[in-house]
Amino acid sequence: MGFDFSASYDELNPADDDHRFYERLALAHGARDAVDLGCGTGSLARRWAGHGLRVHAVDPDPAMIRVAAGRGDVAGRVTWTVGYSDVLATGSADLVVMTGHVAQVFVEDVAWSAVLADAGRALRLGGLLAFESRHPQARAWEGWTRAATLRIVETGEGPVEFWHETVEVDLPRVAYDTFTRDLATGEVVANRDVLAFRSPEAIAASLAAAGFAVDRLHGSWDGAPVTPRSVELIVCATRLHR
Ligand SMILES: C[S@@+](CC[C@H](N)C(=O)[O-])C[C@H]1O[C@@H](n2cnc3c(N)ncnc32)[C@H](O)[C@@H]1O
Repeated sequence: MGFDFSASYDELNPADDDHRFYERLALAHGARDAVDLGCGTGSLARRWAGHGLRVHAVDPDPAMIRVAAGRGDVAGRVTWTVGYSDVLATGSADLVVMTGHVAQVFVEDVAWSAVLADAGRALRLGGLLAFESRHPQARAWEGWTRAATLRIVETGEGPVEFWHETVEVDLPRVAYDTFTRDLATGEVVANRDVLAFRSPEAIAASLAAAGFAVDRLHGSWDGAPVTPRSVELIVCATRLHR
């Protein structure tokens, strides 16, 4: 039996300042309809629903949606969908969020532009798109070594080692492997992913081309501006036109 990432996702990635930031954003914006794109196990979607928002939570990974839906939908206010951004309904959302660095999975510019177009289509005029991307200046990939990232994860089938290793840096692309090692059998499995580390300028240009105006750009979850030491680029952009 392989490692079930969706079952261990919350242990490996506990909801934290990022979800609290998007919770505050939804409330400050008066959002009633929100989209959680790349919702994973759905903790942000449930958090929003707890405040009375209607939420469309979308993720292409059926295992993630299974875990998310299994935790409930907070009074029927969350709709869980297995799919990509093209499943979003037109024009009704007040807020679309991609968190957990989902924005970085769109490596090709054409894929990134398509997601921005779909988010724009899903939003009413004046609606907000918000997401974060790791700031390339912080060079997060340099910390993706076995020594720095090794965790032991308890699974239903015993403990498993879990770690990341950067494979190749060719900015804006960074390829890295995620390893798991079953401590009972010694079996090692590697899974390669590639992320885009877009610059602030590239993000701003792509948003402008998709019909968004950047309202706010933060460098950390406390809402501070971007500085030369910022680790995150947290973007809030308004849908201007169709
Ligand atoms: C690191 S998880 C983040 C999950 C959740 N947003 C959170 O904050 O915990 C990344 C998620 O992005 C999803 N994902 C991968 N490719 C995607 C795509 N093309 N469109 C939308 N989501 C995608 C994955 O299935 C995964 O659930």
